[in-house]
Amino acid sequence: MSSVNLPENLIIAWLRQEKREKPLFLVGGSVRDFLLQREFKDYDFLLEGDCFLFVSRLKEQFGGKAVFNQRLLTATYKIKGLVFDFATARKEHYARPGILPQVRPTTWQEDLKRRDFTINTLVIPLLKEGWGKVINLLGGKEDLEHRLIRILHKQSFYDDPTRILRAIRYRNRFSFSLEKKTLQYLEQSWPYLQNVSPRRRFKEWQLLCAEEEVVKNIEDIFVLGGWSYFMGGLSFQQSLWEKENRAIAKDSFPKELRPWYLYLLIFLAREPEMLEQISAYWGLYPQEKKGLKQTLILLAKQNQFKRLKWRQLLTELKELPPEGTYYLFRQNPNWGENWESFYQEILANKMPLQGKDLFELGLKPGPEMGRLLRCLEKYYQEDLFQTPQEGLKLAKRLIKEDFNE
Ligand code: CTP
Repeated sequence: MSSVNLPENLIIAWLRQEKREKPLFLVGGSVRDFLLQREFKDYDFLLEGDCFLFVSRLKEQFGGKAVFNQRLLTATYKIKGLVFDFATARKEHYARPGILPQVRPTTWQEDLKRRDFTINTLVIPLLKEGWGKVINLLGGKEDLEHRLIRILHKQSFYDDPTRILRAIRYRNRFSFSLEKKTLQYLEQSWPYLQNVSPRRRFKEWQLLCAEEEVVKNIEDIFVLGGWSYFMGGLSFQQSLWEKENRAIAKDSFPKELRPWYLYLLIFLAREPEMLEQISAYWGLYPQEKKGLKQTLILLAKQNQFKRLKWRQLLTELKELPPEGTYYLFRQNPNWGENWESFYQEILANKMPLQGKDLFELGLKPGPEMGRLLRCLEKYYQEDLFQTPQEGLKLAKRLIKEDFNE
């Protein structure tokens, strides 16, 4: 476990050369994932002293983007698809459970003690000559070997109840177990989630749903006793859930769709009246809520779709977010085989004639042209013409017949 062969790149080489009296460590998820031989997405670094100065110099040297969080003493540096997170070693003080902590600088050893789980406390020093050996101060190495998730102190979930959801994610992502005492504290700590800000609760939902093991994650909320504390009043029915999550199955749905949206729709479709409540409990933005609402309205009147002409149906779905159209599409197999092309059709469903196309018929901008365009739009929706030429022909006839809207 201690022989280390970590990725190298220009930035790492620079970090290594940068003369620092104080140590710089790879830490947290990066070390954990490296030891588990999993690909890691970003580099987490821990250092003593001023991480802002350090990252500013890095940016001066290579360009890229840096974002500083003065409150948490962290900085993120992004360049060419790589992400480097730097944290000044810090101690945390939670004035109340669930709120963001007050922090002050400390030693790197102390920093490790404030973290969530032992498996996230391993560090690897970055040396001038290469990577050092894994340092295991708090038993993370043994827990990683025994595949155990263990909190570092019994206040951990109380201080930061979002760690409950982190534990669930790790448990299913790595197929780890919750250590006995950790499990006990976790089960007792769900009520503290009520102290967390709505949007932080929602962020955890997004993260749970973005995982490969989303189905297990959602079931764990229920199995571990947290449903009523985390899901803002939505209910859970095992048999319906099993049927419906299979219908939406993550690995088959298109990458561009937001998983959190689809999984929330599964529950809301059963209880649309809960939309207000869950939106408030999770701090959904008006735009997010609006899309859900429009989808729920159309779900309720699905049986009327049969009466619509194809284009009218496409127009009905035009205002929905892509996830809404996908959810409805899965329930209506006669709409086609492939959601992507169906969605493209929705986006492309525009009448192929505009006011300027009517100039050649001698019409001028004004109320009459407006009336004619509305009339043509209606005929287009009823599939009475397809191409601009057919549209113009129909327009001519309408003018001759002194049309009415
Ligand atoms: N951390 C913590 N408590 C939290 C969130 C984060 O102690 N509520 C610490 C953990 O040590 C974690 C590190 O901050 O390893 C970085 O957090 P994050 O990037 O969210 O987690 P990763 O460990 O990188 O895990 P993931 O793969 O899920 O991103």
